[in-house]
Amino acid sequence: MPDYPPVTVREKTAVVIGGTSGIGEAIALAFAEDGANVVATSRTDSAVAETARKIESYGARTLEQSCDLTDRDSIEALCEAVVAEFGDVDVLVNSGAAAARKPFLDLEEEEWDHVLDVLLTGVFRSCQVFAREMTEGSIVNISSMSADLARARLMPYCTAKSGINALTRCAARELAPDVRVNAIAPGFVMTPLTEEEYGEGTALRAGIDERALTGRVARREEIVGSAVYLASDAASYTTGEVLFVDGGFTRNAL
Ligand SMILES: NC(=O)c1ccc[n+]([C@@H]2O[C@H](COP(=O)([O-])OP(=O)(O)OC[C@H]3O[C@@H](n4cnc5c(N)ncnc54)[C@H](OP(=O)(O)O)[C@@H]3O)[C@@H](O)[C@H]2O)c1
Repeated sequence: MPDYPPVTVREKTAVVIGGTSGIGEAIALAFAEDGANVVATSRTDSAVAETARKIESYGARTLEQSCDLTDRDSIEALCEAVVAEFGDVDVLVNSGAAAARKPFLDLEEEEWDHVLDVLLTGVFRSCQVFAREMTEGSIVNISSMSADLARARLMPYCTAKSGINALTRCAARELAPDVRVNAIAPGFVMTPLTEEEYGEGTALRAGIDERALTGRVARREEIVGSAVYLASDAASYTTGEVLFVDGGFTRNAL
C-alpha cells in the first residue's frame, strides 16, 4: 500500500463562514458527508439553523452560531464557541459574499467600503481570530478568478479578491509550518448570488459559455473537490497557493 496522506477531512473540525448558501454550503455539506464536525455560519439565524439540520442529516456534529464578517466580536464569539464544543479547529473556510455592481465613476465611498469590509477585511479578521487558536490545520479562502481580471462594473469586488490572494500568501508565510493557507479562485458558478447575473438566457451567460474552455458555467458542487483537497492532509505540502477552478476561462485567449 503506498503511504500518501489521504484526501479526506474525516474527524476534523471545520468552520465555514458564508456556509449557509451557494459555494460555502456545498463545501460544508461535503465536509459533513465526509465525516467532519462542521459549523456552517452566516449573519442569518434561520439560514444557520437550516444548514445545521442538513449537516446533521449526514450524521455529523455541528453547532448553531451566527457570525458577521464585519463584526470582530461575533467572529471571536464563534471561535470561542467552536473551541468550547469541539476542543480545536482544524479547518477554516471563508466564503462570505458581497458585491456592488456599478461603474467606477458612480461608486459611492460607502459601497466601496462595504465590499472591502466583508470580502477583504472580513477575511483578515476571521483568519487572524481563528489562526490564534489553531495549533495546526488549513485555512481556505474563497477568492475569485476576478482577482486577475478587469470585470465590468465590479472594481471593489476585483480589488478585494486580489487582496485576498495577497493576504493568503502573506498569511501562509507567517503561519507556516503549522497552519497552511490557500485560496480557491472559482470562475462562473451558479449560486443564489449569481442567478440574476448569468442565469439561463442572460447576455453574460452566452459570453461565458463561449469563453470557458468547459463551454459552460459551473455547478457549486464542482468547487467542492478543491476545498476538500486543500483542507485535507493530501495538501500537506501545499500552502500560499491560489487554485483556479474556472473551467479554463482565464487561460482562454485569442
Ligand atoms: N458564485 C460565483 O460565481 C463565484 C465565483 C467566484 C467567487 N465566488 C465567491 O464565492 C463566495 C461565495 O459566493 P456564493 O456565490 O456562494 O454566494 P451566496 O450563495 O450568496 O453565499 C454567500 C454566503 O455568505 C454569507 N454572508 C454574506 N455576508 C456575510 C457577512 N457579512 N458575514 C458572514 N457571512 C456573510 C451569506 O449568508 P447571510 O446573507 O445569511 O450572511 C451566504 O451564506 C464569495 O466570496 C464569492 O465572491 C463566487
